[in-house]
Amino acid sequence: MLEIFEPNREFSKNARIKNMCEYKELRMQAEEDFEGYWDRLAKEKIDWFKPYDTVLDESNAPFYKWFDGGKLNVTHQCLGRHLTTRKNKAAIIWEGEDGKKRIITYLQLYYRVNRLANLLKNQFGIKKGDRVVLYLPMIPEAAFAMLACAKIGAVHSIVFGGFSADALRDRVQDANAKLVITADGAYRRGKPYMLKPVVDEALKEGCECCSKVLIVQRNFEEIDYVPGRDYVYNEMIMNESQHCDPEPMDSEDPLFLLYTSGSTGKPKGVQHSSAGYILWAQYTMEKVFDVKENDTFWCTADVGWITGHTYIVYGPLAMGATTVMYEGVPTFPDVGRWWKMIEEHRINQFYTAPTAIRLLHKLGADEPKKYDLSSLKVLGTVGEPINPDAWMWYYNEIGGGKCSIVDTWWQTETGGHMITPLPGATPIKPGSATFPLPGIMAEIIDENGNPTPKGEKGFLCITKPWPSMIRTIWGDPDRFAKSYFGDCKKDGKPVYFSGDGAMYDDDGYIIITGRTDDVINVSGHRLGTAEIEAVLAHHQNVAEVAVVGRPDPIKGEGIFAYIVLKGEEDSIGEEIEMIQELNKQITKEIGNIAKLDDILFVPGLPKTRSGKIMRRILRSIAKGEEITQDTSTLEDPTIVGAIETLVNR
Ligand code: WT7
Repeated sequence: MLEIFEPNREFSKNARIKNMCEYKELRMQAEEDFEGYWDRLAKEKIDWFKPYDTVLDESNAPFYKWFDGGKLNVTHQCLGRHLTTRKNKAAIIWEGEDGKKRIITYLQLYYRVNRLANLLKNQFGIKKGDRVVLYLPMIPEAAFAMLACAKIGAVHSIVFGGFSADALRDRVQDANAKLVITADGAYRRGKPYMLKPVVDEALKEGCECCSKVLIVQRNFEEIDYVPGRDYVYNEMIMNESQHCDPEPMDSEDPLFLLYTSGSTGKPKGVQHSSAGYILWAQYTMEKVFDVKENDTFWCTADVGWITGHTYIVYGPLAMGATTVMYEGVPTFPDVGRWWKMIEEHRINQFYTAPTAIRLLHKLGADEPKKYDLSSLKVLGTVGEPINPDAWMWYYNEIGGGKCSIVDTWWQTETGGHMITPLPGATPIKPGSATFPLPGIMAEIIDENGNPTPKGEKGFLCITKPWPSMIRTIWGDPDRFAKSYFGDCKKDGKPVYFSGDGAMYDDDGYIIITGRTDDVINVSGHRLGTAEIEAVLAHHQNVAEVAVVGRPDPIKGEGIFAYIVLKGEEDSIGEEIEMIQELNKQITKEIGNIAKLDDILFVPGLPKTRSGKIMRRILRSIAKGEEITQDTSTLEDPTIVGAIETLVNR
């Protein structure tokens, strides 16, 4: 049984939700009058241009509509409405890896966004509904670009800077994007790295939709310019007016697309709405991090992931907070960098991933002692289950034993937090995301749709829609309905399948146990094993391939590839060469984030008589577990023993 840590009393006194009674009261309100609950929130939180007609339209489930008929603009919610009370407050505090600092007030941010919005409209002809791909480093211009799109109703699609040219091209094509906004490059591990050459490579062929590239100069390294296609942001931006009227958007108009991996096929463009998304971004910022007017909030994610969207940009700005953005790696110039930044900026809420906590714990367990971290009030984690060891170090060494840890479970598809402690109310346990937020109807069910008893693993589902949920997969509504809503129904309505396993412990706390599908989580990055397999299968010498995840002490999961080669190829020298080639292929088609940790050349794969690869067996072998599964149904049962021998070699 894990120890329970009560919230800090002093903190609770001033928290927005002060105790479990208040939490339960909100939960009950949502249960008793579901639409009324969301209606109150939407009216209270959003500054509408025009009020909505209905709260929730379920007539075309699972294509739900929230707050239909309403008009708003997310940038008015994030910037415009704050100008009367917060115009000189810091909106973004940015720190470059090289130590350079920039502070951008709400008024300055408002003007920056307007200029860029005008530039997009006037110089690039971007209109409401057009898609714009952002391939940017962690610089304030990434936030300017997101908000400038939102201002004119364009749909942004951010591609994480770690993705390769091929991956970027796929996303530009799938979204049919008109424009790419990028940078020359930035700094990482003390050295400049480049983005623009990747864009050049991506747009070389097959991207006729995208005829223009806007380049932010950040590291001023030399790059090639394609005349008539490439434009320099730094030169053009000051020619534009700093006034721009926000485009009135329907509640359901898409705000952005964000591509993420599924268990099959190519990455899916997760489409988010305007009103529902911003409501939940703001609400969860307020309740889960409990940010106060003078607080400084820091989320260490990259804007290329959903965490960066919701908790670096949209959430903090919607509530009028000060958000910190950092360009580089946590280990430069040394492993104390983040703790130094917490001391220097007097960070009050700090939000990061278990993989980073484990890395910094391993590399510098005593490093935090050198810094004054007493400004911290709330610590957050996200992205994967956190092991109790890492949790305890975070709690004691970073939080000084006085800060609640909010272990927030959510997904690209959910838009914002779903299951999480509330820092002033929830008694926390290492490794548990605790309870669903009020209004979020989470259930753990078995294969037949029945609730699982305590202590038993099941599928984590959400049985009612919520405002910030994925609206569709861009260009593929069937895949959306099939991947998330399957056949399971509750009260005749479709149920959202998260793809995660979970269970209740003896106290009814929710423990997330990890993915139940063929998606793996490497350093908090989500990768589909099918996607990686497809890349490896492209190699001319590869006959068959199966990829599984295996536990990794720092990364959470590592990537383990089983490969059957064509013909004979067994000399060690050739194997090493093959390994290099395969990793090159991965780097080219996906990016460094998908580099293989283990490659095992095997004579065959364990398959059923119908030809289905038994991944469970491969997962067990990769973990180093003994095989307990029944292998008698395999086409060739001896293959398991043969693979085990190779692993133990
Ligand atoms: C998957 C979603 C949500 C932003 C970052 C990742 C895993 C996320 C937790 C947590 C255990 C977690 C799940 C989920 N996950 N948060 N607190 N505890 N697992 O977004 O790339 O969409 O990945 O991350 O497996 O399904 P994503």
